[in-house]
Amino acid sequence: MSGILVAIDGPAASGKSTTARSVAVRLGYCHLNSGLLYRSIAWCSLRDGWIDAPGRFGPELERLDLTLERRDREFLVLVNGEAAGRGLLTAPETARRASRVAAMPEVRNRVLHVLRVTGEEGGVTCDGRDIGTVVFPAAELKIFLVASAHERARRRILEQGGDPAGPAFYEEVRSLEERDLRDANRSLAPMIPAADAIQIDTTELSPDEVVDRIVALALERGAEPVDECPDFA
Ligand code: DC
Repeated sequence: MSGILVAIDGPAASGKSTTARSVAVRLGYCHLNSGLLYRSIAWCSLRDGWIDAPGRFGPELERLDLTLERRDREFLVLVNGEAAGRGLLTAPETARRASRVAAMPEVRNRVLHVLRVTGEEGGVTCDGRDIGTVVFPAAELKIFLVASAHERARRRILEQGGDPAGPAFYEEVRSLEERDLRDANRSLAPMIPAADAIQIDTTELSPDEVVDRIVALALERGAEPVDECPDFA
């Protein structure tokens, strides 16, 4: 399979996954959203009641069957053969819990393995917090997206159909900053830019401008647009 690996890291709501998806479409690649794996583990452990159960988390996680199934240019996360609905994965409680489970070494090891097996051949844009530093340190192109917390809160509220001028705004800013702190300060795979990452501040940029910049960089680093996604069977 030909194709480079594009790692896109950054804080919550910085536009990573939308950007990674659009870049994948432009290059004819597939998009691997690593946050969905953490969210799926959080969702399943919440639903089945073992997220906070002393002594149960490790053994339950070990038993968990965690796989990715390609759908067009995306991957569906299957937990014991079942995919959570989008609404469940994006629910605020799932997001909060995902940030906590993502600090656990046993969770990170499971996710690391699944991501590497799926993306190591290239032809993939992968977004997350530690993609350029830990998951794919040899990625040909590493991007670190940033945007102010206010701008990220505004985008997130709009995405959810809310009013950014409404009372939910400052709660969203607070919640994003709390997650940023936890993701950046954990000892394991903290959210930091790789030394060779290119930082792009998207606060003042349109989504298309961000995608254009990354596609141009990917072409410089050897990406050649292809018609079909690679076969990961
Ligand atoms: O990108 P996201 O908001 O869907 O990620 C959900 C949580 O998972 C987030 O709080 C941080 C964590 N995460 C991580 O620690 N490492 C990754 N590569 C991706 C996500």
